[in-house]
Amino acid sequence: MEKFVISHSAVAVPSRVVSNDELATMMDTSDEWIYTRTGIHNRHIVTNEDTSDLAIQVAKQLLVDSGLSATDLDFIIVATMSPDSLSPNTASIVQGAIGAERAFAYDLSAACSGLVFALSTASALLTARYQRGLVIGAEVLSKLVDWQDRSTAVLFGDGAAGFLLERTEAPVGLLAEDLVSIGAKAEFLTAGQLANRNAFAGELKLADPYFKMNGREVYNFAVREVPASLQRALDQTDLQADDIDVFILHQANSRIIQSIAKRFKQPLEKFPMNMVEYGNTSAASVGILLHELRANNLVHSGQKIALVGFGGGLTVGTMLIQL
Ligand code: ACO
Repeated sequence: MEKFVISHSAVAVPSRVVSNDELATMMDTSDEWIYTRTGIHNRHIVTNEDTSDLAIQVAKQLLVDSGLSATDLDFIIVATMSPDSLSPNTASIVQGAIGAERAFAYDLSAACSGLVFALSTASALLTARYQRGLVIGAEVLSKLVDWQDRSTAVLFGDGAAGFLLERTEAPVGLLAEDLVSIGAKAEFLTAGQLANRNAFAGELKLADPYFKMNGREVYNFAVREVPASLQRALDQTDLQADDIDVFILHQANSRIIQSIAKRFKQPLEKFPMNMVEYGNTSAASVGILLHELRANNLVHSGQKIALVGFGGGLTVGTMLIQL
């Protein structure tokens, strides 16, 4: 068992809320279409913040709540598919802003699985040699959304969430994990392509910054590969699905989550959802939900929880952890 404790969590979402009804004034869609297919009513959209601004808010809140100094941190990992820039990475901007002079900082890009991949990395870092670090999922997906494309514009939202992770001697932390990449199906979900305009370029590759998603293929991938990954993680332990207290799944679509609950014959109450308010916030979604559950005392120490991200790459990340 890799031992770590999630000692604090925090969230930062932009204050501007955009409802389905408001989107319906901008494009040919409706609250009914969006809600019945996805479970989403609202999403929070930035007005002037960038990804690092949200991540910095989360980091500062984690320091205030823990009473730690920024110089107590050994590392900062930011999971994001919508960084401010390719360099510096978002985590370095956070590190500089909070004055975490001893911490190394880097971004991890695995789309909606990003936070789970980052938690897996942090767990290994803590086990290997470090004492504590921040893991933050932060996204401003609204800059990757083509606001003329109703098939993707209605799905995504902006936000950030993060955790202070600390090494511990207590029997808590990672029970099992299963991380999956299916690069052969990468084309089903792309965003943020860069152009190469070098002087030697043959055929010019045009930039395509916007989300392109084959929704049906991604849906089928999720309902097939997420249960398979969860089952492989369970098979590494003596646990059955019944023994998991709460399943915290990436908040892309309520129908995907309902399908997975049914597949494991689990009550839907064990699969909390909040996409109704935030939409799909990619690397932030699992973190926002876990923070809300902690803040409302709906999860507590001693419980076993499953964290599952899935999306672009294509990727799936499953961690079974003991709180
Ligand atoms: N409003 C109204 N109609 C729409 C909208 C909209 N916003 N978007 C599409 N439609 C129309 C389509 O044009 C189509 O019309 P047609 O039949 O006349 O051609 C019809 O609605 C059905 O479209 P589909 O794409 O087949 O709708 P579907 O039932 O598959 O639902 C959805 C689409 C919600 C995107 C679904 O496929 C889905 O959830 N996929 C998974 C997405 C996901 O989970 N992504 C996670 C990863 S994201 C990440 O990693 C960043």
